[in-house]
Amino acid sequence: MKFYELSPEKRRDQLVQEGWLTTQDAALLAGTHSLPEVTGARLIENAIGEFPLPLGVARNLLVNGQLHQVPIADEEPSVIAAASNGARLATANGGVRTHVAAHRVVAEVVLTNLTDLVQARQTILAHQTDIQKVIAVAHPSMIQRGGGLDQLTVESLGAQFLKIRLTLDPQQAMGANYANTVAEAVAAAVTSWVDGDVLVSILTNAPTELVTAEVSLESASLATKAVSGDVIAKKIVQLSDLAFVDAERAVTHNKGILNGIIGAVLATGNDTRAVAASIGAFACASGRYQPLSRWYMDQGHLVGHLQLPLPMGAVGGAIGALPMAQVVRRLGGYQNLAIMQQVIAALGLVQNLAAMRALAGPGIQAGHMKLQANALAIAAGATETELPMLVNALRQGSMDLKHAQQYLTTIRLNKKVGQSKDENRD
Ligand code: MEV
Repeated sequence: MKFYELSPEKRRDQLVQEGWLTTQDAALLAGTHSLPEVTGARLIENAIGEFPLPLGVARNLLVNGQLHQVPIADEEPSVIAAASNGARLATANGGVRTHVAAHRVVAEVVLTNLTDLVQARQTILAHQTDIQKVIAVAHPSMIQRGGGLDQLTVESLGAQFLKIRLTLDPQQAMGANYANTVAEAVAAAVTSWVDGDVLVSILTNAPTELVTAEVSLESASLATKAVSGDVIAKKIVQLSDLAFVDAERAVTHNKGILNGIIGAVLATGNDTRAVAASIGAFACASGRYQPLSRWYMDQGHLVGHLQLPLPMGAVGGAIGALPMAQVVRRLGGYQNLAIMQQVIAALGLVQNLAAMRALAGPGIQAGHMKLQANALAIAAGATETELPMLVNALRQGSMDLKHAQQYLTTIRLNKKVGQSKDENRD
């Protein structure tokens, strides 16, 4: 049986047998209450329960020569199916090559009501060593771990504002808390050197380091049942070109990339809002909304190239407190932050590939609605035994909740009639 045909229990067993999961991880995944109530209540304000989402795995994504099983928490039926499809194609073609720049977080301290912006700038720059000391005192352990201030710039923004920009190395953490602690400490120190007031001291969620992912595929490997690989490859290139001239298409193109990325980031216990904000800003960096990936032909191969920011951490925040995030880290093979960022970027690229291959071939709805039938059947209230019959009826009939409820009523009626016939026979 194929992986997707197994029960969740058998899938966990297989991942244990293959060495991707430990038996303890599998037991945690099997447990219904993965998050102790006290943990939830300490992590967020006003906790009243949990909001479980299915956790799935995009299998065998080859990234820089290493196989990864990529965990994704998601509600959309076709996302993991598409990711696995894209991963299969990429892996069969030698996998995805990726690169990530050194991890940094940027904090800004903005001053206002200064009498002389030029003078204030010079004074602050003259206190660079003091600022280094302030940063070291604000968070000594980061310095011990090799992190700290990387770069400091001071610039005036119009006639009103002076901005101190601190580029920080937060090591394996995402760095939001570190940047905010440092920004507030620097702000307090600066006000004793210059007049004026601190307006804001906070990190920026603007893009910092970029991750790139690239894949090269033999056109023939892209063939679908009805369409040749060459035709699919050419259409993918056209779809990519279209996204560069049609911003409305670019947003949907990028949504396909985010389909994999957001669920994978969520599963690691990272802040998905920070990732979404940064990627949105990056897509507009040229002044015009652009696709995050480009696809082109090179010597008979379809080449895909993706670049985007992934502001994440491998430690810190809620990551250490969420037991499932630890399982995800092991299962994903995320030995460090750079690997985590690169695998997730590679996932975004293959997710994009799978979406465009479907668009270029059979269209998106055939596969999507097949999977959507399960969600409709569950929403209509089907039991585990009724589910296959209802899914079948939906696939052959109309795919909406009203019809799902009608089909379910008919299934139940037929069952009753069948039972009473059986009883009469006895
Ligand atoms: C659906 O969730 C994502 C797609 O719309 C992406 C795309 O159009 O490229 C299929």
